Amino acid sequence: MPVNILIGTQWGDEGKGKLIDVLTENTDIVVRFQGGNNAGHTVEIGDKKYVLHLVPSGIFRPGTLCVIGNGLVVDPISLMEEMLDLKARGLDISVIQLSTKAHLIFEYHKLADALNEAASASGRKIGTTKRGIGPAYSDKAARIGIRAIQMQNLAEFEKTFREQAVKYNCIFKGHGAPEMDVDAAWQKVKAAAEFLNPYITDTVLTVNRAARAGKNILCEGAQGALLDIDHGTYPFVTSSNTTSGGACTGAGIAPKYITSVWGVMKAYTTRVGEGPFPTELKDAAGENLRKVGNEYGATTGRPRRCGWFDAVASRYSCMINGVDKLAITKLDVLDGLDELKICTAYEVDGQITEDMPSDTRALNEVKPVYESMPGWKCSTADVRSYYDLPANARKYLERIAGLVSAEIAIISVGPKREQTFMA
Ligand code: IMP
Repeated sequence: MPVNILIGTQWGDEGKGKLIDVLTENTDIVVRFQGGNNAGHTVEIGDKKYVLHLVPSGIFRPGTLCVIGNGLVVDPISLMEEMLDLKARGLDISVIQLSTKAHLIFEYHKLADALNEAASASGRKIGTTKRGIGPAYSDKAARIGIRAIQMQNLAEFEKTFREQAVKYNCIFKGHGAPEMDVDAAWQKVKAAAEFLNPYITDTVLTVNRAARAGKNILCEGAQGALLDIDHGTYPFVTSSNTTSGGACTGAGIAPKYITSVWGVMKAYTTRVGEGPFPTELKDAAGENLRKVGNEYGATTGRPRRCGWFDAVASRYSCMINGVDKLAITKLDVLDGLDELKICTAYEVDGQITEDMPSDTRALNEVKPVYESMPGWKCSTADVRSYYDLPANARKYLERIAGLVSAEIAIISVGPKREQTFMA
């Protein structure tokens, strides 16, 4: 009864969507367990490109059940639009299940997200996706959130929605911010609720029955471990547990069922939004990675910050996630470089450390300690086996795997399904 978890080990955008698509060939159920439509999972199949925000990446494998778990915050209008778009492109959306317990995101959460960002002093702005993620998780923790199950009783749902919307409008008014049009917002939410109702179910039962029946289950993480609310670079994080532990609570599955954890790791590092990034390259080398790697956000289109591989942050990430197997992505982006750098330690106040500091401000001050490796200066895009990789590429991979104490199982050398092979 394999229950695998797949998470991103860095600050997101590691290529999880593509990996999930590859791994789901023999999977019965894919379960998203946290986050919301702040995520953007890109999958390229043949000449078609898809960007998923809420629907699990198992949707491209016919018959694979796609569960949107209780740990998510779901914008019902976005989910409806995403499902309709997938349907129009010929995919079977009847395999989608939305947890009764998932919390909902409404327009007032998005307005509050934008307001919080605008009101934050410089240096405190998070650079959120403005999808309302933080305010929706705040409502959940404050026990005033609205869950998907409430969409099944429209009269009750409307009452709660309006009460909440009015409360939020008072806050907006107090800040001199534009208020939302509650009637117009309700009409859109109602249409989405009617559309989504047939898909709402107790997914915890689905997942546990499947686990007991020995089905193959893949729990799909979004964002990356360094954006985890507890273990990431707080407060420059997202509002959920993006680490493997989050799969148990966010999918409703007990730890005893988990068989392995896949860590998806880009061959270099990127980050979107604010927050410390010790190996960031603010020069032509960073611009080159952004251009060659097409490093622009799949959800917001924002340019991603790019830098060298950070073994300190990645080792910490592999530790807290218990990564068994690594999938290294975007190796091909490094093809043209003469020299590669790997950050093996940080220098803090003249002291060398291999540990990730828990003080986020300190992380802003650290100096990365680099070691250099020669590049391979040839294309890897058509390579389909580990031993056909250039020797310097293999040395690079072996070095980073050694530094993070995990085993490389998959390598990806391009965005297409077929540009992936086992190590
Ligand atoms: P939020 O999740 O929209 O609240 O944003 C919080 C932080 O997480 C910001 O720095 C975002 O840029 C970042 N973030 C959220 N989702 C993603 C993602 O899917 N990939 C990369 N960064 C993300």
